[in-house]
Amino acid sequence: MKVIQAADYDDMSRKAANLISAQIIMKPRCVLGLATGSTPVGVYRQLTEWYRKGDLDFSEVTTFNLDEYRGLERSHPQSYYYFMKEHLFSKVNIVAGRTNIPDGMAQNPEFACKDYNDRIERAGGIDLQLLGIGHNGHIGFNEPGTAFEAMTHLVELTESTLQANRRFFSSEEEMPRQAYTMGIKNIMLAKKIIILASGRDKAAILKEAMEGSISPKVQASILQLHNDATVVADREALSLWKP
Ligand code: GLP
Repeated sequence: MKVIQAADYDDMSRKAANLISAQIIMKPRCVLGLATGSTPVGVYRQLTEWYRKGDLDFSEVTTFNLDEYRGLERSHPQSYYYFMKEHLFSKVNIVAGRTNIPDGMAQNPEFACKDYNDRIERAGGIDLQLLGIGHNGHIGFNEPGTAFEAMTHLVELTESTLQANRRFFSSEEEMPRQAYTMGIKNIMLAKKIIILASGRDKAAILKEAMEGSISPKVQASILQLHNDATVVADREALSLWKP
């Protein structure tokens, strides 16, 4: 596990964006695994800025997002489709047909999950996967206890995740209770992984995930076994873990 220490959120964002840029420059036709949540927003902002300056070209890049709420239309402001469009896809020259996000409105969940796995495989697998980390150690929406062998699947969100993400919805009823997520196996098959963490509230889980025992109870702990995983975290997130 490599660790890149950043001073603060902006520094973390810039350092992670640097690694993603290097991937795109070295292999323009690469496959990126992307994440949502508040943590990667700064990374997308930085990538957009470099694109505007003419330093980055997304025209041959393919992307697969980690997850999506079940039951939200793409036009819903809290759907991850909307998030990606707003923070990255509408701002750079990525080809819409090369962006992939699980379909929250799929009629047949089982087929939708299998199809997502097949699409990742057909694209040649993920070159670089960007991850955030939930307070309970989840990555994507892989909640504690999920088998590490899982591929893309439909999950029941835990109370802790519902509470953490509740702030984005106007009412309790509006918030979906299920989501589609890539499984840990999809994530572990990525050639490179970047784990982002910012802020004091991520310090305890970051320490537990990165040096605690490897167990499905803390889904991110499996990342200790990946042979090219890099944590990019700011001082506050690293305040309890001294790698
Ligand atoms: C959500 C997403 C995760 C994300 C996590 C942390 O549940 N499904 O992919 O990593 O939240 O979010 P944040 O970055 O806002 O703390």
